[in-house]
Amino acid sequence: MTGFPSKRANPNKIAIFENTICPDEEVGIDDLSIYVPDLFLSAAGEFSDLRGIDSAKLTRGIGIERMAIPDAHEDAATMAAMSLLELMQRNSLSPKEIGKIYIGTESGVDEAKAIGTYVIGMMEKIFGKGAFQDCCTVEFKSACIATTLALESMSFWAAAEEDDLVGVVIASDIAKYPLHSPGEYTQGAGSVSLLIKRRPRLISLEGNYGFFTRDENDFFRPIGECNAVVNGKHSNQCYLDAMQGAFDVFAKRSRKKGLIMPKTGECITDYVSHLIFHIPYPRMVEYAASAIFRHEWRGLPRWNAVEAEICEEPKAKAYANQDDFLAAEADFIKRFAKSSPFQEAFKAKVKDTTMISRQVGNIYTGSIYLGLASLIEQQKLKPGERVCFGAYGSGCSALVFSGLVQREASFIPLRDIEKKLNDRTQISLEEYEKLHEGKMGRSLFSPSQEFALVGIDRQGYRHYDYAE
Ligand code: CAA
Repeated sequence: MTGFPSKRANPNKIAIFENTICPDEEVGIDDLSIYVPDLFLSAAGEFSDLRGIDSAKLTRGIGIERMAIPDAHEDAATMAAMSLLELMQRNSLSPKEIGKIYIGTESGVDEAKAIGTYVIGMMEKIFGKGAFQDCCTVEFKSACIATTLALESMSFWAAAEEDDLVGVVIASDIAKYPLHSPGEYTQGAGSVSLLIKRRPRLISLEGNYGFFTRDENDFFRPIGECNAVVNGKHSNQCYLDAMQGAFDVFAKRSRKKGLIMPKTGECITDYVSHLIFHIPYPRMVEYAASAIFRHEWRGLPRWNAVEAEICEEPKAKAYANQDDFLAAEADFIKRFAKSSPFQEAFKAKVKDTTMISRQVGNIYTGSIYLGLASLIEQQKLKPGERVCFGAYGSGCSALVFSGLVQREASFIPLRDIEKKLNDRTQISLEEYEKLHEGKMGRSLFSPSQEFALVGIDRQGYRHYDYAE
């Protein structure tokens, strides 16, 4: 089996059903499951009051309502095991059917041992010792883009797999910044497991990838530190630069492969029904969408309507100095984000992806797949639609790729995520701060029907169990 077949371009903007017929070689996401810790901190109220932040800044300016907080017995390994267990149960998967488990994380629990071996140890408490011994597991670290790079690798393996084994790609992270820092209100925790196989029921990948990489200090976590170091505003700009760079490569390759062939006056995003960006906080996807649509629409006839509504786009050579140009540019960005053409496109293609992230916060490498889950749970995906993913990893790199919604997508059982998120337990600021600083001493709530870290021995080896 050799990679992906190239598909015919969709000749008009209406998604066509033909695209969803999968030849054997097609590979993609068959199903997904999500695990979010039971505890949450509300952004508005005690947190915003005691931090002296206007709650509207958090709920509107940042776009966050609740942040998921892991209890003392939870870590990236337990959360990964929880989402994997749910994925296996949802799909009646036995361990012998899983050929590979790739885990993307930047909250690794060991500098050498792959997190997946701990996860397999936990799963074998349910499925029996040795149940996963034929399965290969690798840990991917590349900040928030790790899981997407794992997905890309896994899809090539799955396309070549000859024994009908499936692959699982897991994202699991705890987004953590120092108390009182501007990053604090973009924290969160959780895990997403993706089932990757041939003839997927959910999304078939088009095999078209656009990359961008550059050495940056926007966000990093030196060895031994438990909080990330972040240069906040710079990190936003790195995200936008990388996303645009990766999108340009994706657009060029889409045309070259004949996957998307825009006619005169059209652009690539006209052929995309949903744009799912990495979601460090929900407002960021608005900035990303604004940058991509502006970039795509400039030079098309519709740009005249945009400029007529807001003002002419600033041109550097019209300004005496760089500072004046940058001020005009910042003003134009704000106006464009409020313009009716942008608002319409944002509402139609992007806004719905942030539903879960508003309630969970950042889960780093899995955030983009919370975006996909948001669309699925709101039943926004229709067979034949093209979904475009924009992954970002600090440091920094971006990867833009696309897939087609399959006709079986609407028959996959939903996950009742909204109810699960509503049923969580709210904790106080004091409890949150103790958990954050590792001063709780024990779990806030005893683990029940979940995997739990039960101890770390003198050698540093971690011990896990399933709490009935
Ligand atoms: N009511 C409504 N809105 C308000 C407001 C109020 N009272 N006060 C402020 N706002 C608005 C601001 O106007 C701004 O919106 P606009 O851009 O439309 O003007 C918005 O709230 C954000 O406010 P600030 O610009 O003052 O932002 P901040 O200083 O609070 O910092 C942040 C925001 C940089 C994201 C910071 O939280 C941070 O450092 N977070 C961690 C890093 C991060 O998430 N970076 C994202 C890119 S990197 C990445 O994606 C990888 C990853 O996962 C970490």
